[in-house]
Amino acid sequence: MARAQSHTRAPAKSKQRRMRRSGRRDPAAVTLLKKDHRQVEEWFDEYEQLEGEEEKRELFEKIALALKVHTALEEEIFYAEERGEVEDDMLDEAQVEHDAAKKMIAEIEAMKPGDELFDAKVKVLGEYVKHHVKEEEQPGGIFAQAKKGEEDLDEMGERLKSRKEELMGTMAPQHH
Ligand SMILES: [Fe+2]
Ligand SMILES: [Fe+2]
Repeated sequence: MARAQSHTRAPAKSKQRRMRRSGRRDPAAVTLLKKDHRQVEEWFDEYEQLEGEEEKRELFEKIALALKVHTALEEEIFYAEERGEVEDDMLDEAQVEHDAAKKMIAEIEAMKPGDELFDAKVKVLGEYVKHHVKEEEQPGGIFAQAKKGEEDLDEMGERLKSRKEELMGTMAPQHH
């Protein structure tokens, strides 16, 4: 009984703490993008534990799809509509980092998990992505500046959600 109680209480407490720190809740667009960040970070950590080549290939494919969809969402909708709200330099640098990440993904996609440097490239991509994500979320970063702006980020969240579903279908690799 005691265990069940602590389980039901814990989420409410941590949510309260989060709200107190940020001052107000995250709008839907930021919530969706942060959720993508946590998912892909988790998958990069999971990758480190894998031994089998087939498992590695499958997980990398999931990571690559998630990153392609996420960067497209940010570029098409979030970054594009935050021009004017968020410092130009910051959006430009984020775009350059997306381009670099996409090149790394393409390089890894051209390899097999057994290849020399495959694991190393996935690891470096993970570190690169974690760094980018940290900059997006840090105080004064793109998300923080966007939250202070005029755009309706709850409404944008709805559009990100439906575009994400669409891209998950069209960007998924076609296996022959
Ligand atoms: Fe980004
Ligand atoms: Fe992001």
